[in-house]
Amino acid sequence: MSTLVTHIGELVTNEPGLGDGPLGVLRDAALVLDGGRVAWVGEARRAPEADEAFDAAGRAVLPGFVDSHAHLVFAGERAEEFAARMSGRPYTAGGIRTTVTKTRAATDDELRAGLRRLVAEMARQGTTTVECKSGYGLTVADEERAVRLASEIADEVTFLGAHVVPPEFADDPDGYVRLVSTDMLAACAPYARWIDVFCESGAFDEGRTRTVLDAGVRAGLIPRLHANQLGHGPGVALAVEYGAASADHCTFLTDEDVAALAGSDTVATLLPGVEFSTRQPYPDARRLLDAGVTVALATDCNPGSCYTSSVPFCVAVAVRDMRMTPAEAVRAATAGGARALRRTDVGRLGVGARADVLVLDAPSHVHLAYRPGVPQTAAVWKSGVRLK
Ligand code: NIG
Ligand code: FE
Repeated sequence: MSTLVTHIGELVTNEPGLGDGPLGVLRDAALVLDGGRVAWVGEARRAPEADEAFDAAGRAVLPGFVDSHAHLVFAGERAEEFAARMSGRPYTAGGIRTTVTKTRAATDDELRAGLRRLVAEMARQGTTTVECKSGYGLTVADEERAVRLASEIADEVTFLGAHVVPPEFADDPDGYVRLVSTDMLAACAPYARWIDVFCESGAFDEGRTRTVLDAGVRAGLIPRLHANQLGHGPGVALAVEYGAASADHCTFLTDEDVAALAGSDTVATLLPGVEFSTRQPYPDARRLLDAGVTVALATDCNPGSCYTSSVPFCVAVAVRDMRMTPAEAVRAATAGGARALRRTDVGRLGVGARADVLVLDAPSHVHLAYRPGVPQTAAVWKSGVRLK
């Protein structure tokens, strides 16, 4: 069954050589979706016939958002911790252990239901590619369960056994790193493509991060890192050294960190919902973009540091408070996320791309930042299947 999406006022293709500006914008355009792929892109008046038609009525059409950083396998929530932060308490990441306790106690079906609910919530806001991390189990069985459940639903799965050291290993962090790098990794690697470590003081230092990354790479996983979220540290330099697909957070960067990212294939994934929800200073997107670093925007959806599933919200914050232009922010949330996941089939709308399409209830991508907090999803397809 092929679908013609026609009367597109503004089509964001993200295709080099197609359309105008950094988003490759075509006007008065049409798209044909067929067999889960984009089969044709061009001027509406030249569009071929298809089995069915969707009239975009002059609205903007974008590639579905690529949310390249989320923690969706968990039980319970931490609204009280958020309220405490908003009355002046700092974010410490110590709350992760609260979620670990609740997650271990949950059934598979409870975790699956929570994961499905969040992925559906994301889809309603235009997200069609979701990365999902483990990290709230922190035993061999609980981490294996997290990546297994994530692999049922998410597009990309990341093993984050090195999220924090669980309480039972408080006196033996090296013992925990050994467990993560051996039995836990062996149980999780079949379900995951990525290995991640929360490289931060209070979580995993440089040496322990290296141990986990080395083991992950030996098991065939590709590195990505939580880096430089709460302070300066070795995370970004390590991400670049290991050829990680992405260094995530990047809130506290030295000039050397920025230069290292600029000279690498490692994407800087910015997660402004975290700074919003922890009342921290935002990462300096302008400094990264001006240095030539590829930037992605993602939600980091998790019950602690940032419980938003909304890429449009992150785009609005990035534009308003991180000095990104609307076009830069939209590109970061689509093509940038795809780069951070080393995917060439999503984050763009050219022939052959996965048919992941977001029709905005607005004439232009600018409205994502211009109308913050307003639901603007008119229709969504993922792999050619209409979700909304
Ligand atoms: O990306 N930084 C570490 N992990 C998450 C927070 C998880 C939590 O607070 O539960 C993050 O912000
Ligand atoms: Fe995270």
